Amino acid sequence: MREDDTPPGTAPCAPGRLPLLGHLLPLLTRPVPFLQSLADHGPVVRIHLWHRPVHVLTDPELVHRLLVEDAAKTEKGFVFDKARGLLGNGLFTSEGAFHLRQRRLVQPAFHRDSIHRYAALAARLAAAAVARWEPGRPAPIEPRMYELARDIVLEALFATRPRLAQKARIDRAVPVVLTGFVQRALYPSPLLEKLPVPANRRFDAAVRDLRTVVDEIVAQAAARHQGQDPDDTLLSLLLTARDEETGLAMAPAQVRDEAVSLLLAGTETTATTLAWLFHELARHQDLQDELSEEVRAVAADGAVFPGDLPRLERTGHAISETLRLHTPNWILMRRAVAPLQYDGVLLPPGAETLFSPTALHRSPKLYPDPLRFDPERWRRPGNLARPRLFIPFGAGRHKCVGESFAWTEMLVVTAAVLARLRLRLATATPLRESATAATARPRGPLLIAEPR
Ligand code: HEM
Repeated sequence: MREDDTPPGTAPCAPGRLPLLGHLLPLLTRPVPFLQSLADHGPVVRIHLWHRPVHVLTDPELVHRLLVEDAAKTEKGFVFDKARGLLGNGLFTSEGAFHLRQRRLVQPAFHRDSIHRYAALAARLAAAAVARWEPGRPAPIEPRMYELARDIVLEALFATRPRLAQKARIDRAVPVVLTGFVQRALYPSPLLEKLPVPANRRFDAAVRDLRTVVDEIVAQAAARHQGQDPDDTLLSLLLTARDEETGLAMAPAQVRDEAVSLLLAGTETTATTLAWLFHELARHQDLQDELSEEVRAVAADGAVFPGDLPRLERTGHAISETLRLHTPNWILMRRAVAPLQYDGVLLPPGAETLFSPTALHRSPKLYPDPLRFDPERWRRPGNLARPRLFIPFGAGRHKCVGESFAWTEMLVVTAAVLARLRLRLATATPLRESATAATARPRGPLLIAEPR
């Protein structure tokens, strides 16, 4: 049968399917353009990853149905099956009634009062980080943003700073783990995971080490709490949370899994967004000056208080535009657990689906001149009132639990940087994106920071 000769009720197959590999090559080598190109073939398009058929949704209304209206008929899918086995059953990987219960337990840690406390610690750490940057020396921005985001999440989670050696172990493990679990989900057979090759050994060691180091830090914090009033950290809230129905505390292994989930979900995402934002501002000096003025009108030294954040309106637009054009989670997925029907295509239980928030955010039908970095578009009426079309934090029951935390952190860090420094590109090398397993990162010119 020809690929476009699609029987009723089934989705058309994307062109370019290779024997054995299916569509793996374009997905791995040019993921975002490939997923974007699928919109030309219909709202539901079938691709193959090895032997596994996966349905790609290219229409935002269908994505909304999948995430929100049909949430109870889905689970997270094959990549998360793999992640759960390796990283435990924290919020990021858990499903169903267990996930809802855990979400209710974790959510209070992200209420407004707690977020205000995290804002103060983000401001302190950002100011210290900015003071350490060497003026005039070209340097990549991503590692700086990663270290800062990692420190902010670690301190918000655990209060006292983990020992340097523990931090170094976390830094070694996180990138290997984040890339490795997606790679493993794409192996054609689980037997390949057992091969004693360096990549498998490195990955297994990183998973072990991440769990051990988080166990150690949880134990240190739990010992500190014993007999004392709990402090205001996320970890304290996890340790003292009680299930509404049973009154039971979380098992220590579950506390560890939640901490691992928050650490993994909350570090690279904000770090990548901030790195893209600073690259874009280095390319758009007028905009950078405008935002710097806005920040300094609110706080001359850049140390903004949580109550001031709504006044950073233009800075907020620039962050929204970064989340649109450079959405960190370029791919999300779900699996049907009950029959679904989208645009006449039947998805039986077990059918895997995926979609790319980045591809939707770059659709010319939704965002004119989509590849242009244009924070002005967030000033136009209507854009912010279209939550179905703008989903950097997902939607529905798995929507990012750290969204307000992330927004606060990104505004506070941006203010700290722009009040004190001017950023410019060290060379004219074009900015590129490299979509790793977990996030789409900037690759491009080094940045130079100069005092303002
Ligand atoms: C710019 C920053 C961030 C972005 C773009 C982002 C994006 C997302 C997205 C798209 C999801 C949904 C995944 C899905 O539906 O499969 C998600 C879930 C999640 N995020 Fe974030 N995130 C960010 C920051 C954070 C931070 C700072 C934390 C914690 C401190 C965090 C913790 C989580 C957790 C635990 C989940 C799983 C929620 C659940 O399934 O109930 N994220 N995030």
